[in-house]
Amino acid sequence: MSRKRVAVLISGRGSNMAALVEAAKAPDYPAEIALVLSNVPGAGGLALAEANGIATATVDHTRFGKDREAFERAVQAELEAHRIDIVCLAGFLRILTPWLVAKWEGQMINIHPSLLPAYKGLDTHARALADGATTHGATVHFVVPDLDAGPVILQEAVPVLADDTAETLGRRVLAAEHRIYPEALRMIATEYRLA
Ligand code: GAR
Repeated sequence: MSRKRVAVLISGRGSNMAALVEAAKAPDYPAEIALVLSNVPGAGGLALAEANGIATATVDHTRFGKDREAFERAVQAELEAHRIDIVCLAGFLRILTPWLVAKWEGQMINIHPSLLPAYKGLDTHARALADGATTHGATVHFVVPDLDAGPVILQEAVPVLADDTAETLGRRVLAAEHRIYPEALRMIATEYRLA
């Protein structure tokens, strides 16, 4: 079995990245985490990746000013240097231009902390609570130029409890994220062949 080479793009603690790294330790998992890339120098997840012997890269977006494409060309150069097949966005807090999204059409996925199309954008847990939602959850989807849009690969719903705060609800959603992201990556990394 040839394993797909995956880059995980992060901006922070990287708990979803860690879930992908753990899943990829299984010998029959169809993908290996070949690169963890952060736009934030010193992001917590980088140390965890290094501790697992995974190559890391930092492309600090502040070095590129307002030139989003120059930043993305530097990201793309890292992805090509590491011969990446699939890109997983995992708390990567940069909006991507159509240029980079088009390069990875069908090969770039994202995890979002809501049941899309509900609650695109930020502060999803607080907004769900403010609306009195009784169900919330997480989504893995293909990345398209529009933010938090694109075909859904997997979703998991969680209940909203009467005494939830954004923090307790967020913890429940995060646990769901850690279940569905490795499963979604398994699905898109698996090559189905007719016998
Ligand atoms: C996760 O909850 C992820 O769904 C969210 O950021 C968090 C990153 O946590 N992403 C977004 O909100 C993107 N719109 P992590 O660094 O521990 O994986």
